[in-house]
Amino acid sequence: MEFNVLILPGDGIGVEVTREAVRVLDHICAKYGHKAHLKEALLGGIAIHKTGGPFPAETEALARDADATLMGAVGLPEFDNLPPSQRPEKGLLGIRACLGVFANLRPVRSYAALLDSSPLKNHLVDGVDMIIVRELTGGIYYGQPRGISGEGDTERGVNTMTYTRAEIARVSRMSFELARNRRKKVTSVDKSNVLECSQLWRKVILEVAKEYPDVELDHLLVDNCAMQLVLNPKRFDVVVTENMFGDILSDEGAVLAGSIGMLPSASIGARRPSGAWVGLYEPVHGSAPDIAGQNKANPFGAIGSVAAMLDYSFGLKEEAAAVNAAMEAVLNSGRVTADLKPKGTPATTAQVGQAVCEAIG
Ligand code: IPM
Ligand code: MN
Repeated sequence: MEFNVLILPGDGIGVEVTREAVRVLDHICAKYGHKAHLKEALLGGIAIHKTGGPFPAETEALARDADATLMGAVGLPEFDNLPPSQRPEKGLLGIRACLGVFANLRPVRSYAALLDSSPLKNHLVDGVDMIIVRELTGGIYYGQPRGISGEGDTERGVNTMTYTRAEIARVSRMSFELARNRRKKVTSVDKSNVLECSQLWRKVILEVAKEYPDVELDHLLVDNCAMQLVLNPKRFDVVVTENMFGDILSDEGAVLAGSIGMLPSASIGARRPSGAWVGLYEPVHGSAPDIAGQNKANPFGAIGSVAAMLDYSFGLKEEAAAVNAAMEAVLNSGRVTADLKPKGTPATTAQVGQAVCEAIG
């Protein structure tokens, strides 16, 4: 198979984890006889430095053209005091919207080798296997009106959480479809005791649920969900929720797996005529400027995102499984980065990438 992949390393540790993800992608292609045409472009803070904006037109054109996009992370401390519209993060929001990737799949699972890295007791974490489906192109991240206006005591900041029926229905369907291939349980998370937006969310997903009588649906308020994630994480199979709730809950979910560095994600939207998903693949973690450039960031989230890309965008299930199995083998071998608290000397980012390639064989 031949495919075009756009690589967007972005900022901070995005650069070093993406390098290892690409190493694994190249290795898989060589082993299984595929040809990946890679192009690299700018996104985030580095794009602001080099072009004046976080999502240059050239990056946008390349992303629209590519079969899939692999992203590292965005965010740099020198932009911390700027308004959202001028920050590196704006580039990420821009590419998500431009590709129309409305469903962000964030799988959270426990690994035997990492049980002791989790802050929760082993028996709570052992066997956790859920997927958080975060709505990614709507809600409060994109809603209008937004902004800061006025001055003095009446200076006011405004954001708007808004969803249409169609936006709720499509991400709901995606969640039910995923659940069908898993334990057939969807938990919808909202704040319908306070927010009208959540009341519509609940109404629409209840309607969509009628198309999936074989899948069980329950509802949790987001505050309760945050609590259940640490009290009883094994109760969850597919969790679906709006953009900001999903952002927050998935960071919480990530520590169940031992470290936020472990979590991959797949953002998918429309299907191409071939049936493949238009996809943006990125680790859940951020740019971690405090450890950037030190070769100690955990590349598993980025490498896992390559596995997700092989699976969702290219239908290469065997190759995806090979990457996942290799990651698990490396975890079991203990050659892991410092965040996973290995017994011996922590491995570097590059050593982990190499070890995954060796384990693929
Ligand atoms: C994430 C990140 C982003 C988000 C930031 C960097 C804009 O936290 O992907 O979870 O909030 O979506
Ligand atoms: Mn986040």
